[in-house]
Amino acid sequence: MALVTMKKLLCEAERKKVAVGAFSVGNMEMVMGAVRAAEELNTPIILQIAEVRLKNSPLELMGPMMIAAAKNSKVDIAVHLDHGLKFETVQKALELGFTSVMFDGSLLELDENIKQVHAVVAEAYKYGATVEAELGVVGGNEGEGKKHEILCTRPDDAVKFCKETGVDALAVAIGNAHGNYPVSPELRFDVLEEIYNKVSTPLVLHGGTGISDEQFQHAIKLGVRKINIATASFDHLAQYAKAYCDTKEKANYFELSAQEVQGVYENVKRHIKVFNFIND
Ligand code: 13P
Repeated sequence: MALVTMKKLLCEAERKKVAVGAFSVGNMEMVMGAVRAAEELNTPIILQIAEVRLKNSPLELMGPMMIAAAKNSKVDIAVHLDHGLKFETVQKALELGFTSVMFDGSLLELDENIKQVHAVVAEAYKYGATVEAELGVVGGNEGEGKKHEILCTRPDDAVKFCKETGVDALAVAIGNAHGNYPVSPELRFDVLEEIYNKVSTPLVLHGGTGISDEQFQHAIKLGVRKINIATASFDHLAQYAKAYCDTKEKANYFELSAQEVQGVYENVKRHIKVFNFIND
């Protein structure tokens, strides 16, 4: 199939009333594991990398690999910059051929968030790329550093934000948080439902790790069309690598690499099935 825009995948997801899985990657094994799972289930996915991860996995190395993986895949794949923080990073991703970018102005005042996202929408338009933005504050943190307090998205702000920015996808804050939850999260489905009723822009759920299958499927029924998974894939990779090394006196790189692919593949496959209501 092909490298496609995220907008195309979100439209299809809306038609089928499912969500597209957006899987964070940090190395070649993660890309391979995610693509293998998507191809096996014949389901489109989004490959994404967050700006805070670029110090470990540079954009100029990861970007071309993610794009090549999408172009060579048997399924449709969008390549997305997650949590872009600087306009120049967004521009760099667009120049590399990313078909989608997120600009995260969620810590800004509403009007400033609107202004900055509007500028990103105008830039992305030149490349035919999709834009996601966040309103309200998703808890935790994508990388290290200070954890953000959750601030639920206000439905009326969402209406104004979508209208004035022209954004293609809206990440909502409904009690979700990045990273592992200390206790199972209580999601504000009442807030999600109100946003869904007021806004026609496809909704995005961040902080997928630790959310239950039932919660995912409930959120999808209330308009969530993209779900982000990062920590669970990084953890799976690390667990598979550790389990392999623990059984060996002398670890072999090639076997270790295969275990990393397998760890990510299993995590991505499990989530694609839940997001697409695929039963065994
Ligand atoms: P998790 O790390 O909680 O899966 O969150 C992923 C995410 O939302 C990336 O933006």
